[in-house]
Amino acid sequence: MHDLTHVRFQGVRQVRPAQAPRRLTVPPEKTLGPLATDVLARAGLDPQVYRPLPLARRVSACLRALDVASESDGIRRLRQRPDLLPAALDALLIGVSEFFRDPPVFDAVRTSVLPSLAGRRTRLRIWSVGCSTGAELYSAAILLAEAGLLAGAELLGTDCRAQAIASAREGVFEADALKTVGRVLGPRYFDSVPAGFRVTGAVRASVTWQVADATGELPKGLFDLVFCRNLVIYLQPAAVARLFQGIASRLAPGGFLVVGKAERAPQGLGLTAAGRGIYRRADV
Ligand SMILES: C[S@@+](CC[C@H](N)C(=O)[O-])C[C@H]1O[C@@H](n2cnc3c(N)ncnc32)[C@H](O)[C@@H]1O
Repeated sequence: MHDLTHVRFQGVRQVRPAQAPRRLTVPPEKTLGPLATDVLARAGLDPQVYRPLPLARRVSACLRALDVASESDGIRRLRQRPDLLPAALDALLIGVSEFFRDPPVFDAVRTSVLPSLAGRRTRLRIWSVGCSTGAELYSAAILLAEAGLLAGAELLGTDCRAQAIASAREGVFEADALKTVGRVLGPRYFDSVPAGFRVTGAVRASVTWQVADATGELPKGLFDLVFCRNLVIYLQPAAVARLFQGIASRLAPGGFLVVGKAERAPQGLGLTAAGRGIYRRADV
C-alpha cells in the first residue's frame, strides 16, 4: 500500500453555476417523536396540538424519568408500568415557574391592574391557565391579600399535569423558591413546615386547583384577570388561536389578560395592550 498522506490533491477548482437567490422559508418543524406522542396520548392530551421542537428537547429527560435508553423502550415501559406516566409527563412538559416571575409584570398587576379592577367589583375571579405548581396564582393571591381584595375572591389554577396540581394544592415550597417573594411578604404568607414553607391557610383557602387541558373545554363564567403565561409557546398556532379566543370570550368587560414575556395575544379579539404582556378587554 502506498502512503499518500504527503500528496496534495491538485484537481481543477470547480466553478459553481450562479445560484438563484435563496428564498427565506421557515423549515417545517419535524413531527412529534414516538415517545412524546405516546406519553401525551396516554395522558389524554392531543399530541397534534403540540409543537414538536420544544418537546423534542425534553425527550432525553423523559427517557431518564422512565430509566430507559430508547424511545421504543420507553413506550414499552409505559405499557408495562402505567404508574410511571405522571413522571414521564412531568419530564416532557416543562413546568418551570416562580413566585412573581417577570417582576415588572407583577408590579403592573399590583399598581394598575388590581386598583382598576377593585374600583368596579368586590369579588374578583382570577384564572391561571397552565399554572404548574402554583407559584403564579399564589403570587396573585398574595397581591390581592395585600390590597385587601382576597376575601370573597375566587382564584382558579388549571394544569394538565396531575402531579403539578397536587403540589399546588399542597402549597409547600422549598426555601429557595421563596427568594423572589422577599423578606416582607415571605413571613406574612408562608408558614415554616418540616418540608419547607407552606402558603398560609387563608391564601390556600381562596384558591381552587383543577387538572384540565387548556386545549379542551375551558372553565365556565367570566374572569376579571387571566394569566396565560409560558404555555402557548409549546402549542401549534391553531391551538394558540383557539385558546386565546376562549380566554378572550371569558374575560369580563374591562378584564385583563397577562401573557408571557415572549408571547403576544392575537389581534381581533377585542383586546388592547395595557402594558408589557398585559391586555385589556374593552368595557361595554
Ligand atoms: C412553563 S409552565 C408555566 C407556568 C406558569 N404559567 C408560569 O409562567 O410561571 C407551562 C405549564 O403549562 C402546562 N401545560 C402544558 N400543556 C398544557 C395543556 N394542554 N393544558 C394545561 N396545561 C398545560 C404544563 O404542564 C406546565 O405546567
